[in-house]
Amino acid sequence: MSITLKSAEDIEKMRIAGRLAADVLDYITPFVKPGVTTGELDRLCHDFMVNVQGVVPAPLHYQPPGHSPYPKSICTSVNHQVCHGIPGERVLKNGDIVNLDITVIKDGWHGDTSRMFVAGEASIQSRRLVQATFEAMWIGIAAVRPGAHLGDIGHVIQKHAESQGYSVVREFCGHGIGRNFHEDPQVLHYGKPGTGVKLLPGMIFTIEPMINAGRRDIRQLGDGWTIVTKDHSLSAQWEHTILVTESGHEVLTLSPGCPPVPAFIAQAA
Ligand code: MF3
Ligand code: CO
Ligand code: CO
Repeated sequence: MSITLKSAEDIEKMRIAGRLAADVLDYITPFVKPGVTTGELDRLCHDFMVNVQGVVPAPLHYQPPGHSPYPKSICTSVNHQVCHGIPGERVLKNGDIVNLDITVIKDGWHGDTSRMFVAGEASIQSRRLVQATFEAMWIGIAAVRPGAHLGDIGHVIQKHAESQGYSVVREFCGHGIGRNFHEDPQVLHYGKPGTGVKLLPGMIFTIEPMINAGRRDIRQLGDGWTIVTKDHSLSAQWEHTILVTESGHEVLTLSPGCPPVPAFIAQAA
């Protein structure tokens, strides 16, 4: 596969898909509370996507090579679950942290975004990890401009995470996105400045760091999807879909309910 550059018309469709994905997260936010099951969150999001937005939930029956078809419409990854958690009977308890990852298909184009949520009141350690991961994502986004390299993005994310004693998951990465859920390039969340693909206007990809409080090692559960930390330490992830513009970047998955950009990023921009 090669990296597709999106035309002005393609970009307009991607803006719409990205905003719709973010709107699902805004919609579900008030439901993420102690007592709710991850399966209920999936059902609510599914019904909103299909019946209100008229979009297709991209995860449902998604089957990359070597996988069984994904059985649900969103991913719900709780506490030491890193990503691709399958919604089900699990009841959220006070202090749980959960990533909700939403990907919609609108008119054949994909929008992909995820946020962390806290059920009730989280511990200081949980909040620090969630905040550090949010900042890591935004520091990566701030590095996106024509002429920059993918390694620049990975490097700043890795530096931010590791300087706080956290580790970066290596096995999963951001990805090009458009007519396909996952396209080239792979966007690693670690790396060296000046290495990797050089960014051009019209590229669209996600930045979605998975940061662990403990070691970076992961394993897959027997369900064939859910990824967990080997040492059972907490893990956090945030995700946006980003367009490289002539002058820098545009985040395609913003919505009114997005937490504000960290002040130290907003000032530098
Ligand atoms: N949304 C995830 C990503 O950010 C991919 C989920 S694949 C699924 O790339 F099948 F688990 F939904
Ligand atoms: Co995603
Ligand atoms: Co993604």
